[in-house]
Amino acid sequence: MKALIVGANGNLGKLCVLRLRQHPGCEVIALSRSEMNLETDLAIRTALDAAGNFDLLINCAAWTDVDACETDPAKANQVNGHAVGVMAKVAAQGGARMIHISTDYVFDGSQTAPYREEDPTGPIGAYGASKLLGEQKLLAASPDHLALRVSWLFGSAAGGFPLWVVRQAMKSDTLSVVSDKWGSPTGVTDAAEAIVFLAFHGREARGVLHFCNSGQASWHDWGQCALDQAVKAGLPLKTTQLGETTMEALAAKAGWKARRPIHSTLCCDRYAALRGEKPRPWQDAVADYVENDLSASLQASEL
Ligand SMILES: NC(=O)c1ccc[n+]([C@@H]2O[C@H](COP(=O)([O-])OP(=O)(O)OC[C@H]3O[C@@H](n4cnc5c(N)ncnc54)[C@H](OP(=O)(O)O)[C@@H]3O)[C@@H](O)[C@H]2O)c1
Repeated sequence: MKALIVGANGNLGKLCVLRLRQHPGCEVIALSRSEMNLETDLAIRTALDAAGNFDLLINCAAWTDVDACETDPAKANQVNGHAVGVMAKVAAQGGARMIHISTDYVFDGSQTAPYREEDPTGPIGAYGASKLLGEQKLLAASPDHLALRVSWLFGSAAGGFPLWVVRQAMKSDTLSVVSDKWGSPTGVTDAAEAIVFLAFHGREARGVLHFCNSGQASWHDWGQCALDQAVKAGLPLKTTQLGETTMEALAAKAGWKARRPIHSTLCCDRYAALRGEKPRPWQDAVADYVENDLSASLQASEL
């Protein structure tokens, strides 16, 4: 199999490259922003032409700065929407399949039950709207393509929210995080593993599919779990118990431009049926990250 990975320098993209390269017989072409900038269609077509024939295109690239997308929706729609359509068309014309990574932010967050693939979308910000456009363009190019919605990625080198919480707790005596926003934290290693599975075994996985670690959490639950694991790992924390704040208070304090969905837990039943088992609980993924990768992330973030 010859696979192109777009967004190869991102947190998820890097891991996908690493994991796919471990498969014998799999040729991987890694394309980062400098090799293929999604801001112009010409750059996309030129880079894909240069790559020659391929069997699979995995798009992990996106403009993921939710607040910046709000101030420049045209750029968000180009990078996260129209560019996906261009890649999807080129892939389909060459007989290749495309796996495109999407997000829980396509939902409005008003539903308390976990969102299923067929539930109505309704993004409440420019980032979510641009990612939804990407899904639509992808599936208009070919019904065989796959939009894989993931949520609340963390871990690997970039660390994400658990790294942020532990770093703050090492510096401050008090720390409060949002306790009225719920979703499914997802280890980036688990997401990369799911993508590799879908690359090799998931030909029946077409259309839209959800993947996240099992269970639901608030940001407070998620952060507290990271702190509990950091205590077990013997890290020198100044605070071990998180206080609570609200989304509204944080939005005002941090000057958020974009609204975020309150509930965006994803239901992974379809993925579990395809895979034959449910993804592991999010708490296990946090424990794994703290035990194996957090120290390296802390050192890297000090540099
Ligand atoms: N992180 C999350 O919590 C989360 C949640 C749900 C869904 N997702 C989705 O998961 C996917 C991977 O996210 P991630 O966390 O790995 O994000 P990330 O670390 O921000 O990686 C995104 C990559 O996209 C690249 N990129 C941005 N603009 C580009 C452009 N104009 N042309 C080409 N490349 C461009 C970035 O390039 P540079 O390295 O040059 O900046 C970066 O390498 C994305 O589709 C995202 O929407 C993420």
